[in-house]
Amino acid sequence: MTSENSQFFKSPRLGVNIDHVATLRQARGENYPSLADAAKCVLQNGADQITIHLREDRRHIQDADVPAVAMVTREFNLPLNFEMGCADEIIDIAIETKPEWVCLVPEKREEKTTEGGLDLISQDNFDRVKFAIEKIRKNSPSTKISLFVEANEEVLIRCKELKAEAVEIHTGEYAKLHLENEDYSQVLETFREAKRFCIEHGINCHAGHGLTDQSLVPLLKENLFEEYNIGHWIICQAVFDGLAYVTKNLKEGMK
Ligand code: PXP
Repeated sequence: MTSENSQFFKSPRLGVNIDHVATLRQARGENYPSLADAAKCVLQNGADQITIHLREDRRHIQDADVPAVAMVTREFNLPLNFEMGCADEIIDIAIETKPEWVCLVPEKREEKTTEGGLDLISQDNFDRVKFAIEKIRKNSPSTKISLFVEANEEVLIRCKELKAEAVEIHTGEYAKLHLENEDYSQVLETFREAKRFCIEHGINCHAGHGLTDQSLVPLLKENLFEEYNIGHWIICQAVFDGLAYVTKNLKEGMK
């Protein structure tokens, strides 16, 4: 297995995670904002893929959003990256949807967001992930598997054993250190080592979690990853980039 572009990390892809558009909708229980429109908007403006996470508690993305967003990514001929835990009912939805990518993540109901990468050292977890991968591969052979993990060699070796097409390196700790102006040099070193491992073993090397326009810069400068999945910061920033326009338009319309 060879990585499609591991030598050329030069033009990294941007996956936009639109979960938080659904968070806004669920807060009011209305049928807007539309997830399909959000997907269309980001793809029309240069995003390379859409990422959504159907959580077991359905706190943001709902079952009906999955085919609606998949239809949009297909219209644009761009990938859908379907993040999920290893629950049986979610595996079935992935098989029905046949996304281009499934990104397996650890999932606890009580967490605010995904906290840390998959623990593939525990044999129980490893077996659960292996079962999910095998079931998805058997029933949706076109779907590629990405594993959300820490930049840790022992864990990366397990990803290789599972023949994952990609790993998504958890950038949460790095992003937090960057945000708080703390020293993140050691974390960057683990990212460099992860990149080396991925290139050596032909695994696509993605990254995500907690990133902002600022914390992205050192990663881009060093050409560390070939894909970045970013959600929360984009939706937060979109509020400010859109608020003036919407207020002005509404006020004009009221005249
Ligand atoms: N990648 C993974 C695996 C995630 O779980 C998340 C959060 O859903 C993201 C990327 C996006 O993280 P954020 O919303 O913090 O940018």
